[in-house]
Amino acid sequence: MTESFESLISGIDLKRLPRHVAMIMDGNGRWAKTRGLPRSAGHSEGVATVRRVTEFSSDLGIKYLTLYAFSTENWNRPQQEVDTLMYLIGWAIEKELPDLLRNNVRIHLIGDIQRIPEEARNKLLNCAAATSHCTGLQLSMCLSYSSRWEITRAASLIAKDALNGNLSPDEISEEVFNSYLHTAQTENIPDVDLLIRTGGEVRISNFLLWQLAYAELFFSPLLWPEFSKADYAEAIRDFQNRERRFGKTGDQVNQQSSMSDT
Ligand code: IPE
Ligand code: IPE
Ligand code: MG
Repeated sequence: MTESFESLISGIDLKRLPRHVAMIMDGNGRWAKTRGLPRSAGHSEGVATVRRVTEFSSDLGIKYLTLYAFSTENWNRPQQEVDTLMYLIGWAIEKELPDLLRNNVRIHLIGDIQRIPEEARNKLLNCAAATSHCTGLQLSMCLSYSSRWEITRAASLIAKDALNGNLSPDEISEEVFNSYLHTAQTENIPDVDLLIRTGGEVRISNFLLWQLAYAELFFSPLLWPEFSKADYAEAIRDFQNRERRFGKTGDQVNQQSSMSDT
């Protein structure tokens, strides 16, 4: 039985939601393997979880959701698996477009999109363009993405601007550097508040290294196709029980929050 939205969100403080949630969607292959199915069956099943987390983020009123769909390193997988993933990504984005528009969800593409095969790439670019006016959930799909790729690219763009005379080395602050990252390309996507990784691995796998600087990390043993709205809600409740100190002392943080309550 599916739980009602009200029961799913019980215990969540809607005034203290994470502004930006990022997810490492891991465990599709193992989900399929334990069922004696080909890995591609796990990837297909994973599409349903993408739908669930998108819908739940949108219904809750989360502003930014960023999903790690395919890493730079994933190009090294067997060609057949890469081909299936590219086909699935194109198929899913095309199929979801009407619902995304209805729900006012904007798609951002983060990563080396030129490397994506043409057919899937055109569907992705079409979806990003068609939703560019949407002001609800800002859903970033990280494809052919790795954080080191993104940071190296930013350094190269900064060097070019410095050589052109458009930027002085003394002007390179954290804000300026941030503005050269791919996550600032179509909209200034803020730092991540909550990172969720499914699949049981406790690592970052080259994802958003800069943007995760002060994120709260939540690792779920569940495989991505198993991850439900209730599991997502549990991660948000866990997030709301953490004390985010950003380098300050607990006393300073408590003082600040009691001042903002008055
Ligand atoms: C995540 O699931 C999807 C991608 C990385 C594209 P995996 O395919 O990594 O699944 P496991 O980790 O092998 O189970
Ligand atoms: C991370 O999963 C990348 C994505 C979810 C797209 P991987 O399965 O590629 O990560 P590792 O290799 O286990 O670290
Ligand atoms: Mg994996």
